[in-house]
This record gives sequence, C-alpha cells and structure tokens, in this order.
Amino acid sequence: MKFEIIRDISAPKKPKPQGELGFGRYFTDHMLVMNYTEGKGWHDARIVPYGPITLEPSSMVLHYGQEVFEGLKAYRTADGRVLLFRPEQNARRMNASNRRLCMPEIDEDVWVSCVKAIVAEDRDWVPAEEGTSLYIRPFIFATDPFLGVRSSHTYQFMIILSPVGSYYPEGIQPVKIYIESEYVRAVKGGTGLAKCGGNYAASIRSQSNAHAKGYTQVLWLDGVERKYIEEVGTMNVFFKIAGEIVTPALEGSILPGITRDSAIRLLRDKGYTVTERRISIDELVEASDNGSLEEMFGTGTAAVISPVGELQIGEKHIVINDGKIGSTAQWIYDTLTGMQWGKIADPYGWTVEV
Ligand code: COI
Repeated sequence: MKFEIIRDISAPKKPKPQGELGFGRYFTDHMLVMNYTEGKGWHDARIVPYGPITLEPSSMVLHYGQEVFEGLKAYRTADGRVLLFRPEQNARRMNASNRRLCMPEIDEDVWVSCVKAIVAEDRDWVPAEEGTSLYIRPFIFATDPFLGVRSSHTYQFMIILSPVGSYYPEGIQPVKIYIESEYVRAVKGGTGLAKCGGNYAASIRSQSNAHAKGYTQVLWLDGVERKYIEEVGTMNVFFKIAGEIVTPALEGSILPGITRDSAIRLLRDKGYTVTERRISIDELVEASDNGSLEEMFGTGTAAVISPVGELQIGEKHIVINDGKIGSTAQWIYDTLTGMQWGKIADPYGWTVEV
C-alpha cells in the first residue's frame, strides 16, 4: 500500500510547560489528521499545526457519539532515545473498537506509522523528568452532516500529543476507591469492551459522586447481578489473595487493557499464579475479613500501576495492606516502567524506538 504523510509545519513553536505537568493539560505543536470517505478509504494523512478544527454542527459524532479512541505513551530514555510500548496492540484494539461501533478499520502498519510520524515530528516534547512521558491520543469520529441514525460515510482520524506526569495526583501512592452500587458501566453485548467516548460519558455521574465523598475513582460491578467486580474507571484491577493474583476475566464488558496483558505476562514469568476469573464483592470482603487480601492495584496506560489502599462498599470500609503500596504492585511498576524508560532490558521486544 502506498502511504504518504504530508507535512505542513509552518506554525511557530510554543513554549514548553514549566513545573508540574499533571495529565492532559498541555498539547504539542502539531497533530496528525487523516480522513475517510466511503468508496475511497483512508486518505490525505497530514501533520499540521495543533489547533481548533472545523465541524458541521450536524456532524454525526455530536449527536450519536460514533467515536473511538486509544491511549499510549512515548518515553524518553536516559541516552535520549524515544520509545513506544506495544503500539501495534493499540492499533489492534482500536480496530476492535471500530468494528463494534461500525466504523472503518485502519491498517495496523499505517496506524503505527502515523503514531511514529507525529511523535518524531514533536520529539522535543517528550519530557525527560522522572515519571513523565508523552501521552499519545489517537481518535476517530463520524463527520457526516446528517441527523438520521446510521453509520457515517465519512470519518476523521486524529492524533494529538500531551506531555504528562501522573494521572492521579496521588502518583504511585495508594488511591481510595468507592464501589458503585447504583449505576453500571457496561453489560455483555454492550460497548464495555470497546474504547469509545460513550463509555466514559456514562461513568462521569458516579465518578463525580465518588469525588464528592473523597474517593479518587469508582470500582464497577457487573451490570446484571451487581455482584462481580469489573474494572475501575480508567484501569483494570488485580487482587493478591493468599499469594495468588486474581483479575476479572475478559467476558465482553471489560476493556482489554494492554497494561493488564503486560502485567499478567510479567507476573506469570516471575512465577506467580495469575487467574483470570469472576471475583465477587462478597469474596473480596471475606478475603479482607480473614486477612488473605494482601494487595489490590489497578493497571492502565494513563495510570500505569495504581495501588488501592482503601475501598468503600456501602457502609463497609476496607483498608488494604495498611494503606501502603504492596511489594507486587511495586515490582510490576518498577519492571514495566524500567522497560518503558529503557532502564532495564526488555526481553519481550515490547518497546519500539521512534
Ligand atoms: C488510558 O489509560 O490511556 C486511558 O485511556 C484512560 C483515560 C480515559 C485517561
């Protein structure tokens, strides 16, 4: 396939942010744009100055939410190289989301070439300070000017870049999580397994309630029995119970996290038993009561590894590992980020140099 990215990089460079980066607040000098037209396919890939875009008010995405997105990061190594982490997995997952939302797929090699091209363009924006990276946000949305409900015939693919520090203000310190019992995030057969904006829109009511009560995030239960643990707002979850690692199985309503997959592989290779299965809230409470709940942590690209120190389940309050990060979560964090920042060897071939 002949594929070329046109560069229009005429705009002046912006000053780099100073001090704490936080998450998703600053954007780099450029963005990548590519269009899709039915019958023609994906076309006109271009790198242009970062800035506002023009959309018809009737663009279908604004009415029916036909949108999918991804998240990955570029890391700067001590010797100045820039590494991506398993980008082909994000390409694959975006295509799975595209299929679920009836949107056009992008060839995986083209997708990864687009990511590499925009990161190479704004390479000087990949921060070097401890714990920082360049967050990469690819997304696709429906652009047909039309008000009927159907799949669009035109789409726009974009990649924007944001230099980031920690997703949670707590950093790698344990977070407090509220177990949601009123609302649900997803049901099997819905869109829970796809990375689409609508899933996140549906989660904001609960997240806002949890924030008001002093919690960082909510932990979702299954939408049918309201009994089995699914995931946290921006992370998959893992538990260490009597030495065994347990994580909810991917049964169609949970996001198949790339950090989740990497953590499972690392833990198994280290000799841990990792079981992907259903885990009920009652089992969790019992494990806490009998002292076998040793650790809980979340995994995600934005959050990396986030230990959970406290859980609120209705009236019951659980403190895990005295509210401190556990040795397993710390080990996965050190190993994963060690590979990502090029500090330790990557025997899996997960890192890809830009
Ligand atoms: C990520 O971990 O990359 C995510 O997409 C979470 C995001 C909603 C901030």
